Amino acid sequence: MDHVIAEKIDPETEWKQYRRALSRFATGVTVMTTTQECGAPAGVTANSFSSVSLDPPLVLWSLALNSSSFTHFERGDRFGVNVLASDQTDLSRRFSTKGLDRFAGVPWRLSPRGVPVLDKALAIFECAVQARHLAGDHMIFVGRVLHYDDCAGEPLVFHSGAYWQTRAL
Ligand SMILES: Cc1cc2nc3c(=O)[nH]c(=O)nc-3n(C[C@H](O)[C@H](O)[C@H](O)COP(=O)(O)O)c2cc1C
Repeated sequence: MDHVIAEKIDPETEWKQYRRALSRFATGVTVMTTTQECGAPAGVTANSFSSVSLDPPLVLWSLALNSSSFTHFERGDRFGVNVLASDQTDLSRRFSTKGLDRFAGVPWRLSPRGVPVLDKALAIFECAVQARHLAGDHMIFVGRVLHYDDCAGEPLVFHSGAYWQTRAL
């Protein structure tokens, strides 16, 4: 196995290798949602979601500064985490495609806390933004969980640039 020293990464030549190494880490897939100033929902596919603290309940995710959704999330004081099920690859693709009305034809509702929530998500977490941290070319959003819900089902997994289903060992 070739080891690459992280400090020596040259973005020009080793960008692909670095991305490939990162993609070995399997994750779930979420759609992050918020409400735009005009009241319309905004959403983006993200696999950077993670739980941070149980008490208080804090979660985080990061968004590229050049995302078309960036201003909506930066301005918003709440966001929703929608954990996708294995039969929701269409939603993952839709919410990561530029130039679409991403919510068109997608069943969703506005929660009592004012967070857009997708129907049939495996789990949802409605969060109040607790902190924003600028980190390189991304912004890390830390959210305090105000409300959550979940149901049984198979999660959607993202690994090596492809979608996978889980298999218990
Ligand atoms: C599985 C998957 C996970 C992604 N995770 C993130 C993420 O955590 N943060 C992020 O900024 N973009 C992430 N993206 C990219 C965004 O979904 C989106 O494609 C990208 O931001 C371009 O669209 P936009 O400019 O409208 O945001 C992910 C895409 C996919 C397919």
